[in-house]
Order: sequence, then C-alpha cells, then structure tokens
Amino acid sequence: MDSLSSAIIKEKLKYDFEVSVLKEIDSTSTYLLSVADENTRNGTAVFSEMQTNGRGRRGKSFFSPDKTGLYFSFLLRPEKDFTPAEITLTAAVSVTLALEKLLGVTPKIKWVNDIFLDGKKVCGILAERHQREKEVFYILGVGVNVYRPENDFPHEIKETAGYILPSERENFKSYLASEIINEFFYLHKSDFSVILKEYSSRLLGVGKEIKVLCNCPYSAVLRGINKNGELIVTKENGEEALLSSGEISIVL
Ligand code: BTN
Repeated sequence: MDSLSSAIIKEKLKYDFEVSVLKEIDSTSTYLLSVADENTRNGTAVFSEMQTNGRGRRGKSFFSPDKTGLYFSFLLRPEKDFTPAEITLTAAVSVTLALEKLLGVTPKIKWVNDIFLDGKKVCGILAERHQREKEVFYILGVGVNVYRPENDFPHEIKETAGYILPSERENFKSYLASEIINEFFYLHKSDFSVILKEYSSRLLGVGKEIKVLCNCPYSAVLRGINKNGELIVTKENGEEALLSSGEISIVL
C-alpha cells in the first residue's frame, strides 16, 4: 500500500522542512496560502492523499483522485529576485530529474511545465507568486499521476493523461516527493544557465508544428527556449516570436 508518510518524507529530505500530510483537502496550494504567514518557514510543505478542488494553470481544474496521485505544495522564499520563469523552469526540471533517478525513465517537458512520459501528461506544476507588503514568496504545487486512477481518467483528459507506474510500490509517493523537493532546492542554488541546459535537453516538440493559444491562436514551429526561459517559435510568415509563460499556452 502506497500511502504518504510524513516520517519517510522527512527522513529523505536533505533539508529540515516542516511537512504535513492530510487525507483530503480542496487544494494543497489554496490551503498552504491560507495558513502561511510571515513565520511560515521556507520549504514548508503540505501533502494530501486527494484534492476535492485541485487547481491547474489558466483556471483549469486538476483531477486529484484518492490515493493514486501525489499532490503537494511547498512554500518558497526566494533569497534573491528570481523571475517567475526561473522558478517555474526549475520546478519542471526537478520533477524530471527525480523521475529519472528513481525510475530510470526519460520524461520530457512540455513548455512550460507539464511533464510527459511516453507521450502522456503525468505531472502538472502550478507556480504561484504572492506578495504581502514587501515580501515575495511562491507556492509551488505539484500533481503527479502515479498510478492508474480507480475509475480511470475523466473523459476530457482520457486521451492525454497518463500515469507512471503500473502497480503499487511501497512508499513510492513519499520517496518521489522528497526527491522532487531535494532536486528543487539544489537546483535553485545553481546558475540559471545550468537549469536552462537541463530544461532544453528535455523540451518536447522542438522542430515540430505547434498551436499557440492566445486571443488570436496561430500555428508555428517550436524552436527552443531563450536565456529568459521564453519559448522561441517561428510563425508561418517566417517571423520569430517569443512566448512568455504567463500569457500563452501551446498545443503540440
Ligand atoms: C496543471 O497541470 O495545469 C498544474 C496542475 C498542478 C496540480 C497541483 S496538485 C497540488 C497543487 N494543488 C493544486 O490545487 N494544484 C497543484
């Protein structure tokens, strides 16, 4: 049985973070924001076995059934003035590194921070920047489809969603969670160029045609990312465009 264990998560974490494990919550990110105050320490993490109102990017919901997924959020107090792109890309790379290390698989990143395995989305990341008075902090929410949901994925995501393991492994979710957090805080100290290199080598769809979703959707060819983490695309008229994660999403 793979239930989250705060003892195992804490034992595997390389940092002395506060960890709480809940059975059910609307959203770990919403909850963490509601309890966070100026005394909440960097790295404080909240996990839940299920979410009743899991949130995704761009106002979408995130399917979070009981027990088969890993759902957690942690608080980040950046030591310097990072851009949201730096935080977001770091989170995506940490999930891929953790999966590579624990399972020997080769996940890919769909810009900006969806993690794909064998052509299916297995993880989504929600990086939210908050400001209270002068203090800036982030709440990073990670949702991984670890096992096949009991009643399968809902119709809307059935074709695109995947999971990473065919059968349960004891304490796997706790190991994966600690590994992701360890990777994140390690990478977070690195130069952004290191993170960009790791990110670029795992970027999905380079050289492929994509659809850019904005007020006026258009087709383009994906070229890569630049030093600011913006996506470089070539439009059908040959013009180059830079996409920034807050405003635009893509369909491969
Ligand atoms: C996405 O795919 O658009 C991002 C999904 C992020 C889901 C995680 S699960 C833990 C945390 N709590 C939430 O409500 N969302 C994030």
